[in-house]
Amino acid sequence: MKIKDLEFKKFITAAKINEKIKELGAQLNEDYQQKKPLLLPILNGSFIFAADLIRELKVDCRVSFVKHASYQGTQSSGQLNTLIGLNESLFNQDIIIIEDIMDTGLTLSKVINEFGTLGVKSVEIVTLVRKAPARAHAVQPKYIGFDIDDEFVLGYGLDYDGYGRNLKDIYKALLPETTK
Ligand code: IMP
Repeated sequence: MKIKDLEFKKFITAAKINEKIKELGAQLNEDYQQKKPLLLPILNGSFIFAADLIRELKVDCRVSFVKHASYQGTQSSGQLNTLIGLNESLFNQDIIIIEDIMDTGLTLSKVINEFGTLGVKSVEIVTLVRKAPARAHAVQPKYIGFDIDDEFVLGYGLDYDGYGRNLKDIYKALLPETTK
């Protein structure tokens, strides 16, 4: 399959994704049974994953979609500078960040550092995909769907230059070895 200039091949099927989401949902139901977590899916990439994962949850929970700010905010403490769209207070909340893919881990570590200053009760990350470079990072998700090599992937919410989010399966790019 070709998207823009790149050739992609099927990598993780929709059936495998569904199975994994049921497992992740079961783990979250177990770990949060006495809690009322506030779920923060990070747009755009996690919208499909979040929609499927949230429907597996049986615990009382709320959902607030957030997005990375494209600029460095200048607000004073008490507000998130790296994420926008949050209307709820995070104080004393059990937060679950829902991410599509963790690559270097830099994006998530910025977000996590900010949570430290906001008086949250707990914060955990669930990521559908963790790439090899992320495994060396200090910030780690407690819940991981798929661990993959350093591949470029798309589908199931993940995009290549805006395209491919609508695909039901996850595909990987066929890159020449030298550019991987
Ligand atoms: P990090 O800060 O390097 O962990 O970057 C993570 C972000 O980069 C993700 O939320 C995605 O938006 C994007 N990203 C990284 N790898 C891929 C990929 O293989 N396909 C699509 N988007 C990716």
